[in-house]
Amino acid sequence: MGVEKAGKEAIAAAAEHLRAGRLVAFPTETVYGLGADATQSLAVAEIFAAKGRPTFNPLIVHVLDVAAAEQHVIFTPLARQLAGAFWPGPLTLVLEKREGSPLSDLVTGGLSSVAVRSPDHPVARALLEATGRPLAAPSANRSGHVSATKAEHVAADLGDKVAMVLDAGATAHGLESTIVDARGDHPVLLRPGAVTVETIEAVIGGKVVRGDIDAARPSAPGQLLSHYAPSARVRLDARDVGPGEALLAFGPDPLATAGAMINLSPAGNLNEAAANLFAALRALDASGAEAIAVMPIPQSGLGEAINDRLRRAAAPR
Ligand code: TXA
Ligand code: MG
Repeated sequence: MGVEKAGKEAIAAAAEHLRAGRLVAFPTETVYGLGADATQSLAVAEIFAAKGRPTFNPLIVHVLDVAAAEQHVIFTPLARQLAGAFWPGPLTLVLEKREGSPLSDLVTGGLSSVAVRSPDHPVARALLEATGRPLAAPSANRSGHVSATKAEHVAADLGDKVAMVLDAGATAHGLESTIVDARGDHPVLLRPGAVTVETIEAVIGGKVVRGDIDAARPSAPGQLLSHYAPSARVRLDARDVGPGEALLAFGPDPLATAGAMINLSPAGNLNEAAANLFAALRALDASGAEAIAVMPIPQSGLGEAINDRLRRAAAPR
């Protein structure tokens, strides 16, 4: 574990951990974040494993500024205005993912949009600078627990799961960032947070539309994958592979097939499988198969989240 005062050397060590694919908890002006390099799928999978999240909610990507964000998302005029007024700060913008962005599919939960924010905390900023990578970071608490506003909270919840906790005392807001979908002409509120709707409305001189707050974490079958729901049908718990089917395999003994096949983890490692899941679905879909047969995946650890997503992909549509 290692809770360390967030001085220069600790921040440099933390950046080293992050680049090596390990998790680091760090302070932001809202709450402590459980950070990973957002371009490394295995590192992002570790976030879900550490939090014990039963589903792959899309995560917020932290960047230094608009220029850094533009490597990953496409800014609308509205987004530019909002970032100009509130960045760095506790406003998260949901924008269309840019083609060629190196962000892991696991960060976006397979969606075509990305939530980005530029934190206003000297330690978070120094860490972003030292790491030189976009950082995915949900609040640093176990799933279902309250958010962590002190390093001690993080240590109690996740101490054995992270390479390091950077300690900079209590966070200023103690409440997560406000999330706004800024892809259109009018901001759509997806999560109320540290920046009030009234402040946003004062800046843009217009109304904030209250979105379906749950749209951020869709629960209806199929919905979450709808942006790229495979055009192939998905068949779960496959014990054989039929004609015209591609195989999504798991473990050391993949089913026999002459067609397209991707093994999520030949070693049977669920973190590795999670890291590969979305890219594998895309690739098998692109193979032109009419259906994807999915081998059984254990329900333990990240298996629960993997199976949750696969069930959505397989749901009738
Ligand atoms: O204050 C904060 O925002 C903290 C600190 C650590 O920065 N971070 C945080 O991140 O709360 P996280 O990953 O827990 O927030 C995830 C939420 C999701 O549940 C979802 O509501 C929204 O962000 N989200 C992420 N990507 C999205 C997307 N592409 N479309 C819609 N909502 C998205
Ligand atoms: Mg949270």
